[in-house]
Amino acid sequence: MLLTMEHSKISAWLRESDQTRLAQLWQEADGVRRRAVGDAVHLRGLIEFSNYCRRQCAYCGLRADNRNVQRYCMSDAEIMQCAGQAVQFGYGTVVLQSGEDPGVSAERMSRLVRRIKSRTPLAVTLSLGERTDEELAQWRAAGADRYLLRFETSNRRLYERIHPPRPGTRSDRIAILHTLRKLDYEVGSGVMIGIPGQTHDDLARDIRLFGSLNLDMIGVGPYLVHPDAPLADPLRRPAAPSGQQVPADDLTTCKVIALTRLVCPRANIPATTALATVNKDDGMELGLTRGANVFMPNLTPPEYRVLYEIYPNKACTSEADDGHRRVRERIEAIGRTVGSSRGDSSNYLDRHDPAPSPY
Ligand code: 5AD
Repeated sequence: MLLTMEHSKISAWLRESDQTRLAQLWQEADGVRRRAVGDAVHLRGLIEFSNYCRRQCAYCGLRADNRNVQRYCMSDAEIMQCAGQAVQFGYGTVVLQSGEDPGVSAERMSRLVRRIKSRTPLAVTLSLGERTDEELAQWRAAGADRYLLRFETSNRRLYERIHPPRPGTRSDRIAILHTLRKLDYEVGSGVMIGIPGQTHDDLARDIRLFGSLNLDMIGVGPYLVHPDAPLADPLRRPAAPSGQQVPADDLTTCKVIALTRLVCPRANIPATTALATVNKDDGMELGLTRGANVFMPNLTPPEYRVLYEIYPNKACTSEADDGHRRVRERIEAIGRTVGSSRGDSSNYLDRHDPAPSPY
């Protein structure tokens, strides 16, 4: 079943509704997860430090044209304080995420990365959108360990409808993922599930692409409607042929997580905030027991977090010690442990240590 799973089989699983068959999928994915990456759930402290964005993504609440957003950019001191909190909570990683903010200079970012790397033991993940090769190289040289850039959908026509390029350019996220790999980052990508116009076949191709890109980290979550984004308007929404639209729900997200684990056994796969948002009761647990091995508690100060509205009603975990304790308890309640290392991707480590792995 591993790596070689054909398109038709993946696509059939995505349409599967029989509970008994699905239980087999969950079990298989959970077993592969345990054997390939173990029982530890790695925690990544998410710092959403700027919500300025120059892009016009049709799905996202932070798009440049949305005048209903109050924009902010945290100071270096505020960001360092959040990083300190990550250390205090015992997290191995911070994720610095922002909109595609031209106000954050490459130099400032490098300085910040250097500061975090010299003052803490944290791994640093960047998620700053489509940036130039020079910027990416500069941040890697400053010590950044990982970079996240979702390709959103492998269907090029759909991508172009929901993700307009900056004027005079072509948006090629796959090319950027290759650059990141050459720069020796741990490379992460992913897609949204249930984008209007997305079919099961599209999604099956996305999962196969995760495998052929040999990604180190793969984040997937349901598409959630933002009322101020063009995709909320039924007249501007792409449509899939009848019966072929992928639902944007927790079940389909879990199927994608499980199938991704089977195709990419050694990758780090988070139970994402979007999954925890569509299912606030146990979205996190469902993800973690159906193939995921990472969770990203939000460390953004509450006054900024409410302004980082890529979609409404974001699930919020770990706003303070209390939330942090709760996340630990929930992980332990499903028989898992909280990771105590940086939680580097086994896939990445394998590339640097040629000792054979059974996966
Ligand atoms: N619903 C779900 N996910 C979204 N993202 C952006 N907007 C939305 C939305 N409305 C996801 C994209 C992006 C990541 C940071 O958040 O996949 O890459």
